Amino acid sequence: MCGIIGYVGKKNSVSYIIDGLKKLEYRGYDSAGISILQDGKLVTVRAVGKVAELEKATLQVSPKGSTGIGHTRWATHGKPSEENSHPHTDCSGEIVVVHNGIIENYLVLRDKLKSLGHKFKSETDTEVIAHLVEENLQHIRSGSNEEKLLKAVQRTNKEISGAFAYGVLWAKTPGLLIGVKNQSPMVVGMGKGESFLASDVPAFLKHTNKVLFLEDGEIALLRADGVNVLDKDGKTKKPKTIKISWDQQTAEKGGYPHFMLKEIYDQPQAIEDTLRTARTDFSKILGLDTAALRKLQDIHIIACGTAYHAGLVGKYYLEQFAGIPVSVDLASEYKYRTVPHKPGTLAIAISQSGETADTIGAIKKAKQLGFRTLAICNVLGSTLTRVCDSTFFTHCGPEISVASTKAFTSQITSMYALAISLGHANGNISTTAFDKLYKELMRMPKAMSEVVKMEYEVRHLTRKIYKSGRFIFLGRNVNFPIALEGALKLKEVSYRSAEGFAAGEIKHGPISIIDKQTPVFMLMPHDSLFEKMLSACQECRARGAFVVAITTPSGAAQAKDVSDKVLLVPSVSEFLQPILNVVPLQFLAYWIAKRLGCDIDQPRNLAKSVTVE
Ligand code: F6R
Repeated sequence: MCGIIGYVGKKNSVSYIIDGLKKLEYRGYDSAGISILQDGKLVTVRAVGKVAELEKATLQVSPKGSTGIGHTRWATHGKPSEENSHPHTDCSGEIVVVHNGIIENYLVLRDKLKSLGHKFKSETDTEVIAHLVEENLQHIRSGSNEEKLLKAVQRTNKEISGAFAYGVLWAKTPGLLIGVKNQSPMVVGMGKGESFLASDVPAFLKHTNKVLFLEDGEIALLRADGVNVLDKDGKTKKPKTIKISWDQQTAEKGGYPHFMLKEIYDQPQAIEDTLRTARTDFSKILGLDTAALRKLQDIHIIACGTAYHAGLVGKYYLEQFAGIPVSVDLASEYKYRTVPHKPGTLAIAISQSGETADTIGAIKKAKQLGFRTLAICNVLGSTLTRVCDSTFFTHCGPEISVASTKAFTSQITSMYALAISLGHANGNISTTAFDKLYKELMRMPKAMSEVVKMEYEVRHLTRKIYKSGRFIFLGRNVNFPIALEGALKLKEVSYRSAEGFAAGEIKHGPISIIDKQTPVFMLMPHDSLFEKMLSACQECRARGAFVVAITTPSGAAQAKDVSDKVLLVPSVSEFLQPILNVVPLQFLAYWIAKRLGCDIDQPRNLAKSVTVE
């Protein structure tokens, strides 16, 4: 994530930019910066921390100018620090860039630019854009400065790859701000005598509701008196504006009534962003060579809550693909149990926030035992990532809703990538098998964008069952942790009693709590355990339960015979199926909580990061 705002108009841009950044803080908040074009020179102020820190620093410098850009950062490359904060400049200090996304080939480009004499000041991928624009400008001889800048940006776009939305200012083109969009969001606001560029509408909604959503490959040229848009082939396009009717609060949630719902819908993008770095050599991340990897005897996974459930899914993956025995512990338990010291143990801590006290305490214990430690984490610079020997980042952007959704599916995705990579490196799976598994993994963003279409059906179903006092979730194998997660999600946001079990266990006790009309959710994709799940459906139905079968299309007919309602999830490979299966359960929790009038984004008694034991 990260938030961008730009202003070109007739007034002093500073307050517009600071105000816009505050509205974008939900997209990232580890550092922020601003560049204002004042009397032909760019004045840049940057500060670590929230936008309030930048505001204080800006007051001291007190820049003035009617063209400016700002950025609030959610670190992806390089720790949160002043040098790594945006805007980034070229060597001359005359070009500034703010960027949201990831430039995948930045290392190659940085080396090339360094060899051409460019001096880099940060560890970020963004800085290559500023230097590339500078480099390209030097080779463009004809045209006005505005034409030259546009050409340099077009050439730059051809050289960079990945997801990027960025804004550029050049001291020699006052009154012009250029915005570029490719896979990351970028919108333009058309005001009266002023134009805005931003990652999201709330940044400028106070000033104009006339909005233009840029498409991938498009470039916008913003001036006080209007905006020109070029399509991906460089041809001028008639800007298609729309009028936004959202109020400010709705706009911050991307038009959704709650962050939880927005974040459920964020999942296709979150998974895509996480996967961008997934074909990674995990042995490099872990700092272990092939010989050391082959000596890995044991893996301990440590986490809390939803992250623990992702760890449980990870165990199936690691044992299946890497052939290494795995134990999964609740961090609060790991810390206080006797953990035998065994050489060749890798401890993995999974955490969205990286600030969960129990997880940090447990991983410190693993370190004391001499184990190598890896964090799977969403927040760069967080305590956990500083404690662990290495980190793999889930790139799902800030998760605001207390109930975790997109972090969970990104964590499972990361565990899958880790498992196949370790399995390949230690020889447990062949290159052919690895390639096939990897290809299947890469199809997940698309499958995810299909599964989020289930909201309406799930919403409709909740009308019938939301008043029930107790809910049961059942699954087997990789879908057992999804049953636990479905129950946790529902408990958290709706305060209903909900329990998840391994389907084979119900006859050993839990079946006694099932009575007439108890909603029972069966996670039963049409896989090797499908028949067994059919039996579980019948056992529950015989006790009067209202059975909802969550299955894949080829299981629909049989599931229909033994259930009261069938929900169809797109079919993917058996081990990836849980990533999709959890989505209807997220919608379920959301809609039951909504019908019950609960505080969905901030449920009672809970906090987003639990920083105490
Ligand atoms: C559930 C939830 C919590 C967290 C848990 C760990 O929706 O949000 O159960 O998963 O507190 O938090 P992190 O992942 O930040 O360590």
